[in-house]
Amino acid sequence: MAVQRTFVMIKPDGVKRGLIGEIIARFERKGLKIKALKMKKLTREEAEKLYDIHKGKPFFEELINFVTSAPVVGMVLEGDEAVSVVRLMIGPTDGRKAPPGTIRGDFALSIGENVIHASDSPERAEYEIKVFFKDDEIIDW
Ligand code: PPS
Repeated sequence: MAVQRTFVMIKPDGVKRGLIGEIIARFERKGLKIKALKMKKLTREEAEKLYDIHKGKPFFEELINFVTSAPVVGMVLEGDEAVSVVRLMIGPTDGRKAPPGTIRGDFALSIGENVIHASDSPERAEYEIKVFFKDDEIIDW
């Protein structure tokens, strides 16, 4: 078992719908450790860095407009196999196809407004953490 860090972001729809507490509670109950937590309104530049792998795709503009439209809540979660565990907990991208019991399965009905983002690999997690957090915002505990 490998202890990993992952990056999770509650997207503007999750914040506006008042789902922050519900979502954080699920990760805490699972046993993941919150090493950093911050609400912010992403600049266009930050959003484009965070989603750089999707640049050029047809939905890119829509995605950037959406994630910069209202505040988001980012967090660093740590635990055994945290990357895959969190991806299982959030469910597939399209909320309509996400199984009940997953965060998107319980709260989303769309592929764009799908409540939450999580890194898909440990390498990607480290990159996304650096885009969102300064080093001294991550607490070693
Ligand atoms: S891909 O091409 O299969 O890698 O893309 P996918 O995994 O389906 O989606 C990647 C992220 O883009 C978001 N997305 C959209 N946002 C707005 N509008 C539309 N039409 C749209 N389609 C996809 C999707 O929510 C994914 O965001 P994250 O935050 O990674 O879940």
